[in-house]
Amino acid sequence: MDKDILILAVESSCDETAAAVVKNGREVLSNIISSQIATHRIYGGVVPEIASRKHIEAIDWVIDAALEDAKVKKEEVDAVAVTYGPGLVGALLVGLSEAKALAFALNKPLVPVHHIEGHIAANYIQNKDWKPPFVCLVVSGGHTHIVYVRDYDSFDILGHTRDDAAGEAMDKVARVLGLPYPGGPHIDRLAAEGDPNAIAFPRVTLESGSYDFSFSGLKSAVLNYLNRAEMLGEKTEPANVAAGFQQAVVDVLVEKAVRACESLGVKRLAMAGGVSANSQLRAEMEESCRKKGIEFCVPAPILCTDNAAMIGSAGYYEFIKGNIADMSLNAYPSLKLGER
Ligand code: KG4
Ligand code: ZN
Repeated sequence: MDKDILILAVESSCDETAAAVVKNGREVLSNIISSQIATHRIYGGVVPEIASRKHIEAIDWVIDAALEDAKVKKEEVDAVAVTYGPGLVGALLVGLSEAKALAFALNKPLVPVHHIEGHIAANYIQNKDWKPPFVCLVVSGGHTHIVYVRDYDSFDILGHTRDDAAGEAMDKVARVLGLPYPGGPHIDRLAAEGDPNAIAFPRVTLESGSYDFSFSGLKSAVLNYLNRAEMLGEKTEPANVAAGFQQAVVDVLVEKAVRACESLGVKRLAMAGGVSANSQLRAEMEESCRKKGIEFCVPAPILCTDNAAMIGSAGYYEFIKGNIADMSLNAYPSLKLGER
C-alpha cells in the first residue's frame, strides 16, 4: 500500500483562524477553528485590522491544537498547505507567514491553496467517492459562482455575481432586520418561522441562459419594503421578510445550478461556501436534483463555513500534482479561481 500523506493545513483569509491535519485528502484527523465573530459583531462586520491582530493571537495555539488533536508530531507531516488568496491581505499574511516559517523550519514542502478551491474540496471530505467532473455552486460571503470542476485543479467559471455575493446580501438584509453579524444563520432561523409567499420579492435571472447572478436589486427591494412600511407607519413581520427574501435567493440559486447541470449534461452537482449551510437551500437543491436524477453533494455545515480541513483536502491534490511554492510566496487578496 502507498504511504499515507499527512497535510497540515492553515487558513486565515477572513475572520476564522483555523488549522487541520488531513490524511490522503479525504480523512480529517483534526479541525480546529477559532472564530473572531464575537469580536467583529459589535462593528456589524469584519474589521480587517482587528482580524489580523486576532489571527496573530490565535495562530500558534490553533496549529498546536490541530497537531495534538490529530496525535501527529509536526515532524510527521508531509507538507504544509496554506490559503494564500483570495481574502483580506493582512489576515492572509498571518497564516501564510506562519506556514512558511513552519515549512522552512521542518524542511517540508509549502503548498499554496486557493480559498474557494478549498471550499469546493470540502465535498471530497464529505463524500469519499466524490470526484471531478461535477458542477459546483459556490456561495460564500465574498463569492457566488457556478463552476464546472473539470479536475481537482481545473475549473471553468460558468457564471458569477455581477454585484453582491449571496452571503453579502444575506448579511446586509439581516442587518436592516436588526439581526447580528454574520446574518446568514439568523436569516435561516427567522425564515423558518415566516411565510415565504407573504411578500413577493423579485427573482433576478438576468438574460435568458445566463448563469450570472445579481442580488443587489433584491437587497434594495427588501430595504424599500421596510422603509416604505416605516414611513407609512405600517407594521412589518420580520419572519415574513426573511422568508420571502431567502426564498427569492434560493429560487435563483437552485434554478441556475440545476440548469447548468442539464445544459452541460452533467449528472453531479455539489455546493460549497458558507451560504451552502443554509437549511432551505440544502433542502430545495437536494429535492430539485432528486427530481432531475442529478447526484447531489453538500458538505456538513461545519465544512461549509471557513475551516482548514477543506484547505488540507485541496492542498493534498495540489501536493500530489507537484504544486509546491517557495519562500517567496505572497498573499493575493483577489486571486482568481483556477489561477496559479
Ligand atoms: O464561506 P464563508 O464562511 O466565508 C467566506 O469565504 O466568505 O461564508 C460566510 C457567509 C456569510 O455571509 C454568512 O452569513 C453566510 O456565509 N452563512 C449563511 C449561513 N451560514 C453562514 N448564510 C445563510 N444561511 C446559513 N445558515
Ligand atoms: Zn470562505
